[in-house]
Amino acid sequence: MCGIVGYIGSGNAKDVIIDGLKKLEYRGYDSAGIAVVRDGKLEIKKHVGGIANLENLIGDDPMTSNVGIGHTRWATHGAPSDINAHPHGNQDNTIAIVHNGIIENYQELKQELIEKYGVEFKSETDTEVIAQLIGVIYREKKDLLDSVYSAVSKMRGAYAIAAVAQDEPDKIVAVRKDAPLIAGLGKDSNFIASDIPALLKYVKEIYLIENNETVLLTKDQVKIFDENRNEVKREVFHVTWDADAAEKEGYDHFMLKEIFEQPKGLSETLNRRLNDEGKIKLEGITLTKEHIENISKIYIVACGTAYHAGLVGKYIIEKLASIPVEVDVASEFRYRSPLVDKNTLFIAISQSGETLDTLAALREAKDKGARVLSVVNVVGSSVARESDDVFYTWAGPEIAVASTKAYTTQLMCMYMIALYMGLEKGSITREYYDKFIMDLKAVPDKLENFLKNVSQIERDAKMLYNKEQVFFIGRGLDSAVSYEGSLKLKEISYINSFAIAAGELKHGTIALMEPGTLVIALACQDFLYEKMVSNIQEIKARGAYVVSVAKEGNDAIAKQSDQMIYIPECRDEIAPLLSVVPLQLFAYYVAKERGCNIDKPKNLAKSVTVE
Ligand code: F6R
Repeated sequence: MCGIVGYIGSGNAKDVIIDGLKKLEYRGYDSAGIAVVRDGKLEIKKHVGGIANLENLIGDDPMTSNVGIGHTRWATHGAPSDINAHPHGNQDNTIAIVHNGIIENYQELKQELIEKYGVEFKSETDTEVIAQLIGVIYREKKDLLDSVYSAVSKMRGAYAIAAVAQDEPDKIVAVRKDAPLIAGLGKDSNFIASDIPALLKYVKEIYLIENNETVLLTKDQVKIFDENRNEVKREVFHVTWDADAAEKEGYDHFMLKEIFEQPKGLSETLNRRLNDEGKIKLEGITLTKEHIENISKIYIVACGTAYHAGLVGKYIIEKLASIPVEVDVASEFRYRSPLVDKNTLFIAISQSGETLDTLAALREAKDKGARVLSVVNVVGSSVARESDDVFYTWAGPEIAVASTKAYTTQLMCMYMIALYMGLEKGSITREYYDKFIMDLKAVPDKLENFLKNVSQIERDAKMLYNKEQVFFIGRGLDSAVSYEGSLKLKEISYINSFAIAAGELKHGTIALMEPGTLVIALACQDFLYEKMVSNIQEIKARGAYVVSVAKEGNDAIAKQSDQMIYIPECRDEIAPLLSVVPLQLFAYYVAKERGCNIDKPKNLAKSVTVE
C-alpha cells in the first residue's frame, strides 16, 4: 500500500526521500513522486510506474533542498497515472501533500471547494481534495500547522498525511488517523515515514505516532500534538533491527533470504519468551490464570497467510488447552454476527499490524467486551497498540510481499499460547509441556539442516514449473499447511492452485484429476498417515502426478508418489513448522523459473491498509 517519506535537515531531501521510497517499495505501489521546496519555490515531480521512472524524470537535477516529502501510491481513487500520483498540490501550487488512506467524504468536500472557492481539480483522487482544502484554508491562516488542523477537522476516513508549504520551508506537518506513521529523530535532521525500513539507514530512534496526533517537524525538533493541540510527550522507541535486515545480503530475492532466516526467527521468538527453567514467561502480558479459566471461546481472526497460521492455532489450542476456537477471515468476521462477549478471547494475527480488516474486526470484538491478544511482527503497529496483550513474533522485517518467516514465527506463538493456557488450565501435564517445549527448541536446528540441501526442491520446481494448475492436499494439521502452500504458489507464480482437505477430495474436487494433474500431498501426521496413503492412491488411480511431503523414515508413501520431499522427524503437532518450508521453496523456485517478479507480485501489496 502507499508509502510516505518526509525529510527536513541539513542534507539533500531528494536523495533521502528517494532512498526511503525504495525501502518502501515492498509495500506495493503503482506510481511515485516527490515534492521539495527549492529556493523558495515548491516543485513536484511524479510518475506512474516504479521509482526508476521517477528517477528518470528527475534525471541529473539534484533538486537541491533541505525539505521534502515523497510517496509511493497504490491506487484507490483514480487509476495509476502521472496526474493521480502523489504529491498533490493546491490551486497555486504552494502547498503539497502526500497521503496514505481514504477520505470518505471527499466528494462532499470537493463539491464545496468547487462551488464556494472555484477550485479546479486536476486529478481523480481523494488526496487532491486534502491539498486543495488545506490550500483554501491557508489563504487566510497563513500557517501550515493551523491549516492542517482545520482541514483535518472537516475530513472523515483513515489517513496519514504529510504536508509542506512553499512559504514555510522550515517545517513538515504530518497527521495520523488509522494509517501508520512514524517520526525519525536524527542529528540536524528529522524524518517522517509510514514504516521503519524507510528510515533504518538514517535513524534508530523514532516516535510512534498515535491516532489523531499531529506532528510538527523542523530540522532540530519533532513536536507531537493531540487533537486539542496540546503537546504530547512521547517516549523514544529504539529500533533493534539493523540496516542490513532490510537488504538482500547476497540472496537473489528477499523471499529466499526470509525463508533462510526462519531458523533464527523461530529461536528468537521462542527464546525471548522462555525463562531459565524453560517455562513460558508472559512478561508484559496481563492475561491471568483467572482470565484463562473464564475463556469460553476463542476467535482467531486474520487475513491471508496470518489466517492460515490461525488454522494451525485452532488445532493446537483446542488440543492443548481444550478451549473451542473459531478461525475467521477478518473481512468476513466483521459482517456476520459473531457471538462475542466478555468471556471471549479474540486473537488477532498480523505481520504488519496495520491490516485494516484485521484492525476493524479487533475493534468490533473489543466493543463487544472481548479481551484482545494479538500476535504481531511490527512493534508499535496499530494492532499491537489496540490490543490488551501482544505476543511479538521476532521475525525481523519481512520485505517480500509473500509472507514466510512471519508465518512460521506466528505458528511458534500459537504453540506458546496453547501450551501456556493448557498448563494454566491443567489440561496438559507439566511433563507433556516440558517435552513439547524441548521439541520446539529443536526445530531451528532441524530447519537449519534441512535448508542446507534444497537442491531437490529446485530440481522438482524446474521440472514442474509449467503446470497450469496445482492441488495441495493434506489431513488435519497438514490440511492447514496445504492452504498456505497453495497461497504461496499462486501469489508469486500466478499458477491456479487450490488446497483441499484430502478426505474431502472425493466429494467433488476429484472430478478435476486427470493424467498429469500435479498434486502436492502432505503426509506429516503419523496418526493420519495411512489414510493419506489411501487418498494418494485414489488420485494416482486417476493419473495424477504426486509430489509427497513426509517425515524422514516414512518410506511407504514413496511407492505411491512420483516425487518425495522428506522433512526432519518431529512430533505431529509441530510438523507445520517444518513442512511449510519445502512448499515456500517450491513456490519460490517455480516463480523464478517462470520469470515472475517474486518479491513484488502483481496486484499485491505488503500491507493492506484499505478495506
Ligand atoms: C501472503 C500475504 C498476505 C498477508 C495478509 C495479512 O503471503 O502476505 O496474505 O498474510 O495480507 O497481512 P498481515 O499479516 O500484515 O496482517
